[in-house]
Order: sequence, then C-alpha cells, then structure tokens
Amino acid sequence: MSGSRHLFLTGFRGTGKSTVGFILSQQLGLPLVDLDDFIEQRAGKTIRQIFEDGGEPLFRTIEAEVLGEVVERPPSVISLGGGAILREENRAIVRRSGTCFWLDADAETILTRLRADESTAQRRPSLTKLQQRQEVGHLLQERAPLYEMSADYRIETVGKEPETVAAEILALWSARSTSV
Ligand code: S3P
Repeated sequence: MSGSRHLFLTGFRGTGKSTVGFILSQQLGLPLVDLDDFIEQRAGKTIRQIFEDGGEPLFRTIEAEVLGEVVERPPSVISLGGGAILREENRAIVRRSGTCFWLDADAETILTRLRADESTAQRRPSLTKLQQRQEVGHLLQERAPLYEMSADYRIETVGKEPETVAAEILALWSARSTSV
C-alpha cells in the first residue's frame, strides 16, 4: 500500500464518470486514470472482445489486477468502471486508498445517456440476458448498496452539466483535504 490519496469516481454506466474525471484531473492538476482504458491496454483488445473471449469473469479478473496496480501510483483521479465495486477486494482497495464519489442517476436518465454515447457499443456489452431497459433497472437496484458502501459521498447527476458535478466534488474534496 502506497498510502496515496486518490480521488475515485464510481457509479453506474452512463453517470458521467469519465467526463467528470477528465474535468477534475484538469482542475486539480492530477493524472487521470480511466480504469476501462487501462483494462483495454492490458488486454490489447476492447472490453467487448474481452467479454466475447472470456465472459464477465475474465473481465473482472483483469479489472481487479489493474485496480491493484493503479492505486500504487501517485495521487490520481481514478474513474472506475461501473462494476468495479462488485468484488469485496476492490471495495476494500477503494476505501483504503482515497476518497470515493458515487455519481448517481435514475434508470431512465442512464438509458438515455447510454444510447447517446458512442463508446457504448465497444465498452458496454450486455451483463445479463435481459433487455437493456430491464438490465439497467435490475443492476442499479442490485448495485446501489455496493456503491453506497464504497463511496464517501453520493452526488446526484440528473439535470446537471458535468462541470456542475465536478464543481460539487471539488468543493467536497477541498473541504476534506483541508480537514485531514
Ligand atoms: C461495466 C461498466 C463499464 C465497463 C464494463 C463493465 C459494468 O464501464 O467497465 O462494460 O459492469 O457496469 P463504465 O461504467 O465506464 O461504462
């Protein structure tokens, strides 16, 4: 354990983690680590291809390995994939390595954003046999307690621009940094 204090972003697919992470990294002058980018680099293929080759178990194994490595880097803004908090070992790593913000949104908002996001096809294979709408509703409900367990703060993102979400996080981060 390096003891470094990272800024983690967690939350469901389509809640704006990558965009907000980019803004925060610029504003804080910290490196940006997008975990999905690192996973694709490590595997030499897209997330969709990883799922095709080894299913979700292979993806989760690579995800856990990469998370364990990136937290050893100097303080960074780390944007987690939406399911990184599924494994208890990952939740423990996040809790002990920094401050985590949960970007939250309702299922309808998430569906709209996923359908508008070009990266969805290569980065977001189906996780269940359900239709997309049902999958989002089901997994959101299942994961909400895990996001809550992993995060120090929940940030509502519905109806807000990424800059507004980033500003809220920055205020909390600064207050926390000066109080420890
Ligand atoms: C996943 C979310 C994706 C990506 C992978 C699995 C999930 O990341 O890690 O498709 O289980 O919710 P984003 O949350 O960045 O879309």
